[in-house]
Amino acid sequence: MNIGDEYKVSIEKLSNLGLGIARIDGIVVFVENACVGDEVKIKITQKKKAFANAIIVDIINPSQHRIEPFCPMQKVCGACQLQFIDYDYQLQIKREIVKDTLHSIGGIDIDIPFPIASPEIKEYRCKVQYPIGQTKVSKKILAGYYKQKSHEIVNIKYCPIQPRICDDIINFIREKAFELGVSGYNEKKHIGDLRHVVIRHSKATNKNLVVLVVNAKKSFKKVEDLANSIYSQFKDVCGVCLNFNPQKTNLILTENSQLIIGKDFVKERILDKTFRIGTNSFFQVNPKSAENIFAYVRNYIKSEFENPTLLDAYAGVTTFGIVLSDVCKKVVSVEECKEAVNIAEDLCKLNEIDNIELHNMDSEKFFEKDLKTKKRKFDVAVIDPPRKGATEKTLEYLLALTKNKIIYVSCNPATLARDLKYLMSRGAKIEIIQPFDMFCHTYHVENVAVIDVKDVNK
Ligand SMILES: C[S@@+](CC[C@H](N)C(=O)[O-])C[C@H]1O[C@@H](n2cnc3c(N)ncnc32)[C@H](O)[C@@H]1O
Repeated sequence: MNIGDEYKVSIEKLSNLGLGIARIDGIVVFVENACVGDEVKIKITQKKKAFANAIIVDIINPSQHRIEPFCPMQKVCGACQLQFIDYDYQLQIKREIVKDTLHSIGGIDIDIPFPIASPEIKEYRCKVQYPIGQTKVSKKILAGYYKQKSHEIVNIKYCPIQPRICDDIINFIREKAFELGVSGYNEKKHIGDLRHVVIRHSKATNKNLVVLVVNAKKSFKKVEDLANSIYSQFKDVCGVCLNFNPQKTNLILTENSQLIIGKDFVKERILDKTFRIGTNSFFQVNPKSAENIFAYVRNYIKSEFENPTLLDAYAGVTTFGIVLSDVCKKVVSVEECKEAVNIAEDLCKLNEIDNIELHNMDSEKFFEKDLKTKKRKFDVAVIDPPRKGATEKTLEYLLALTKNKIIYVSCNPATLARDLKYLMSRGAKIEIIQPFDMFCHTYHVENVAVIDVKDVNK
C-alpha cells in the first residue's frame, strides 16, 4: 500500500475520533467524512506501520444514514464532523464508540444504554470562540472556526449550532473592527490587535457576554471603541470585556481581563438554581443537555442516599454541588480556577445555600491534605475532570476519601476507560455508565459512570 493508491472499501464502524474504519489486507484505514455502511472509493493520504489514513474520492453506495448537512459550511469547517449523518444514528455511533473504547482501553465489557439525546440539536452551543484574522490585501476581518487539521480560518457568517444572535454580534464585529482600524491577528508573525472573540450566551435570559481577546498587555482606545459600539448596538449584549493575551501561545484566554462596559457575566438557570458565567470560568456549553446530566445525578443521589455528605471535585463554579445542595447534608467543593471559586462563593449567596465549603486548590493536593488533616469521609463523590482525566494518585486519594459511590462525569471515553480500569484494579465495581449527547454532530460524547467503592480495601 502506498500514498496515492486507490481502493474500494466498505466502512465498518467509526473510530473514537469520528473517522470511518475500513480494512485492506488486515491494515486498518481511517477514512475522513465516512459513515458506517458506506461503500466508497478511497485514496491513501498517509501510511504508517500499523494503519493508514485516506480520503473519499467517490461514494459508490452511500450509507442509508447519510443526510444533507443543514450547515452549508460543514464540509470545510472542522467543527461538526458528523452532521452528514442522521441524528439518531449519530447517537448509535456514540454508543458504539463508548463501548469499543471501554473495551479496548479499559478491558471493560458492560452494557451501554442508548445515549440520552440533547434536547436541542441546533443553536445549542452557548460558548462561541472564534479566532480572528484578516485578509492579506484588503485587510478585511476574518472570524470563524479553523479548517480541519489547520489554522486557516473559515470565515463563518452563519453557524446553525450556535444562537443566531452570536452570528449577528460577530458579523457586526467584522465590519466595525475594520472601520475602527482594529486589525485581525496574524498567528505566524504574532502581530495584529484582535486574536479571538468569545461569546458566553445564556439560554435562560438570551443575554450575551462578549469578550474581545487582544494581543496587548493593557487596554487601548480602538478596542475600547469597538467594545462600546458592540454594547450600544445590541440590547441583548449585557457586557463587553477585554482579555489580554500578548503571549505566543495557543491558549485562547488568560486570567487577565478588564470589564469595559456593562456586566462581566451572564446568568444561567440549571434545574431551579441560578448560575453566573464569567469570562474565563468553565460552564457546560450545552446547558439544556447538561441539565439532563445534573437531573440524572440528582435523581440517583436522592434515590440512593439520605442526606449524604458530598465531595464535588473539578467543580467549576460548583454546578453539581449547587444543584445537589438541598439533597445533601454538606458539600465540599474543590476547583483550581480562582475566578470559578469566586463566582461559586457569590452563587451560594445568590441561591441562599449555606452547606457548601469551597476550596480553591488542585484536587490531588486537596485530597492529600484533607486525608491528613481532617480524617473525614464522604458518602459520595462527584468528579468531573477535564479531558485528560485524573492521575492514579488522585484516584487513590479519592478512594480513601469516599465511603460508598464515586460518580465520574467524563467528556473523554478514553481517559474514563483508563481511570475506570485503575479503580477496578483496586476492587471498585462499575454500576452504571450512561452516555449523554452534549456536543451534537461531533464525535464527542459525555458519560456518567457510577462506581461502587464500598468493598475497596482502603
Ligand atoms: C469539565 S469541567 C467541570 C466543571 C463542573 N463540574 C461543571 O459541570 O460545570 C472541569 C473543571 O476542572 C477544573 N480543573 C482542572 N484541573 C483541575 C485540578 N487538577 N484540580 C482542580 N480542578 C481542576 C477546571 O478548571 C474546570 O473547571
